[in-house]
Amino acid sequence: MSADCAVRPIHLFVPTYRVEECLAQVRECLEKGWTGLGFKTVAFEEEWKKYTGLPNAHFTASATAGLHLAVRILKESKGWAEGDEIITTPLTFVSTNHVILHERLQPVFADVDRHLCLDPEGIRKRITPRTRAVMFVGMGVNAGQLDAIAQVCKKRGVSLILDAAHMAGTRVAGRHVGHEADAIVFSFHAVKNLPTADAGMVCFRDSKLDSEARKWSWLGINKDTYTRTHGQDAYKWRYDVEHVGFKYHGNSVMAALALVALRHLDEDNSRRRHLADRYSELLSGYPGLELVPVAPLCEPSRHLYQVLAANRDELMLHLNKREIYPGVHYQDNTTYRMYAESGANCPRARTASDRLISLPLHLRMNTEDVDRVAYAVREFYGG
Ligand SMILES: Cc1ncc(COP(=O)(O)O)c(C=O)c1O
Repeated sequence: MSADCAVRPIHLFVPTYRVEECLAQVRECLEKGWTGLGFKTVAFEEEWKKYTGLPNAHFTASATAGLHLAVRILKESKGWAEGDEIITTPLTFVSTNHVILHERLQPVFADVDRHLCLDPEGIRKRITPRTRAVMFVGMGVNAGQLDAIAQVCKKRGVSLILDAAHMAGTRVAGRHVGHEADAIVFSFHAVKNLPTADAGMVCFRDSKLDSEARKWSWLGINKDTYTRTHGQDAYKWRYDVEHVGFKYHGNSVMAALALVALRHLDEDNSRRRHLADRYSELLSGYPGLELVPVAPLCEPSRHLYQVLAANRDELMLHLNKREIYPGVHYQDNTTYRMYAESGANCPRARTASDRLISLPLHLRMNTEDVDRVAYAVREFYGG
């Protein structure tokens, strides 16, 4: 395929909304006069628990908010002290690591494996008497060695937090991910594979922590407005403030969009896997490229299609000239000023950070679009 054919731009992410279904859901909110916390947020939390099998689900304004709640509440409930350590990955969006710093805990960076996820061996080596948790990021491609890491955490008595921003609908051995973690956090940002505009979900294993999260995400108030409005008792207006909390809860308009997206999630992820398989077919074994292997037994959401590419930055420019706009997930966080003092030694993450490229993958693409991108990549490497 020649570059002359490349007329229609192919972007990295373009969300797909089932517009009529979304409008019907949002209309219900508007007609009822309830767009905030409650109503659709409750309905979506119930549907999410049914879909994932997870025992608790608290709908939040974003995954960043959910991650912060996860760290704050585990810290409070387990009595972690300032300076205690969380082992984490340098290859992630900064939300993952910022929430550790927000809580004045110490991020300890460990290296990634060939799945671009934390390597259990690196974690074992970094566990100290001050290690309180491991923060595992499931990359858009797969769940890496999550099971082995859950075993390490269990054995060493440290908590496991799963940043599953990319993992809505990801299953391992037929079961939705998350059951192995103390807290798991999903993103429903517009560009994710379950798109709203901005929203997330934090799911605690322990129901007591889920109740705490609801207070923390509503400024520390111990009775939400939905309960106050719909309660029967004469004192339903009265509440106490137990914490100096945050304004982190989600709203019914976002939940309305999420309810529609959830109905189609399995079908959408399966289409993503189909497009990803086509990429792999065309790019596997190609000189200059290294594919990221999907972990055994993992059925990924395929939020991303990532490869490691020689001369990545030149490849990006080559694709841009052909109206193809890939992205990078992610730059090694320890190269950022905020994390430069971390003393991290993660050579695999550093190499990956220089070579990673995410090729366009979204539901408005068809296999011809994938072919166009893949042939443009091959053209760059001379074939
Ligand atoms: C790995 C990871 N964690 C957390 C986030 C934050 O998600 P949100 O935008 O919903 O706060 C993102 C978003 O890109 C992400 O990729």
